[in-house]
Amino acid sequence: MDKYLNKIIKGDCLEVLKKIPDNSVDMTFADPPFNLKKKYNHYEDSKEKQDYLNWCNDWISEMVRITKPTGTIFVHNIPRWLTHYAEHLNKIAYFRHWISWDSGGAPMGKTLLPNHYGILYYTKSKSHNEFKFNDIRYPHPRCRTCNEFLKDYGGKKDQAHGFGPLLSDVWSDIHRIRHKKRRDDHPCQLPIPLLERLILMTTDEGDIVLDPFMGTGTTAVAAKKLGRSYIGIELDSDYVKIAEKNIKAAKETRINGHYVSVYLTHVRTMRDKDFKEIWKNKDGELKLLDKKMYKILKNI
Ligand SMILES: C[S@@+](CC[C@H](N)C(=O)[O-])C[C@H]1O[C@@H](n2cnc3c(N)ncnc32)[C@H](O)[C@@H]1O
Repeated sequence: MDKYLNKIIKGDCLEVLKKIPDNSVDMTFADPPFNLKKKYNHYEDSKEKQDYLNWCNDWISEMVRITKPTGTIFVHNIPRWLTHYAEHLNKIAYFRHWISWDSGGAPMGKTLLPNHYGILYYTKSKSHNEFKFNDIRYPHPRCRTCNEFLKDYGGKKDQAHGFGPLLSDVWSDIHRIRHKKRRDDHPCQLPIPLLERLILMTTDEGDIVLDPFMGTGTTAVAAKKLGRSYIGIELDSDYVKIAEKNIKAAKETRINGHYVSVYLTHVRTMRDKDFKEIWKNKDGELKLLDKKMYKILKNI
C-alpha cells in the first residue's frame, strides 16, 4: 500500500484500483468523464449508454471495496448519470446526501439551464458513530459593497456565528475556474476549494484520499494543502505531468495549527470544532470576523 502513497499512478483506474487492499483508504472521490464527447487528449468520451454505466458500476464497486469502514465515497457528475450511480451505490453503501453544487453557467436555450452538478455522498458504514464527519462552516454571504450579511437570520444577526453558518447540501459559494490564467490545459478541471471542503468534512490529518480520475491533480493538491496523503490515478501522461507540477507547488494551509481552505486570500471553509482555536488572539479572546479579517493570509 505504501508504494502508492502520495503518487499519481499513470494507468487505467480499474486495473490500478484492483491492486489496492480492501478497507485501506479514508475517502475516495471520483470525477469521471461525463460521456459527453469532451475533448480529452487521449480518452474517447463517447461510450454507448449501457457500456458507460457498466464501466462506472465497476469502478464505483472498487471505490467502495477499498474504503475503510470509517470512510466516505463521493462521486461527482451531472444529474443524468448520478441517478444511475445511486441505484448501484444504494446496494453496496449508505446514502448520506446528494450535494448540489451550483457552479454557475450560461443559458443554452431549448432546455432548462443545467446549473448544478451533483456530488453523491455515501459512507461505507450505516451508523453515525461509525463514519467520520466534521461539521463545516463557510463565510456569511455578504454584500460586496456594504459588507452587510445578505441573509436576515430571522432578525437575529447579532447572534450569528463569528465566521459563518453551518454547511447545507446546496453549495453556491464555490465557482468553476473561469480565468484562463488560473486553469491548466484540461477541459474540466475542478476548483481546489471544492475538494478541500469534502476533505475537511470527512477526514483527519494524515488520512488517505484516493481519486481514480485525477486529471491535473485537484484532489491531490487539496489533500497536500490539508496535511492528508493522496493516491491518484490518471490515464493521460500529459495530465500526470501537470498534476505532479501542481502538487509540488502546493503548500500546507494552516491558521494557528488548524487546516483551513483558503482561496484568493479568503478563508472558504473551516471545521466548526477548529473555529475557536483559529480565531483566538494572543490573550485567549475570540476575535470576531469583519471583512478585513477574511484576508488572513498574512497569519498563515
Ligand atoms: C472529468 S476529468 C477529471 C478532472 C479532475 N477532477 C481535475 O480537477 O483535474 C476525468 C479524467 O479521467 C481521465 N480518465 C479517463 N478514463 C480513465 C481511466 N480509465 N483511468 C484513469 N483515468 C481516466 C481523463 O484523462 C480525465 O483527465
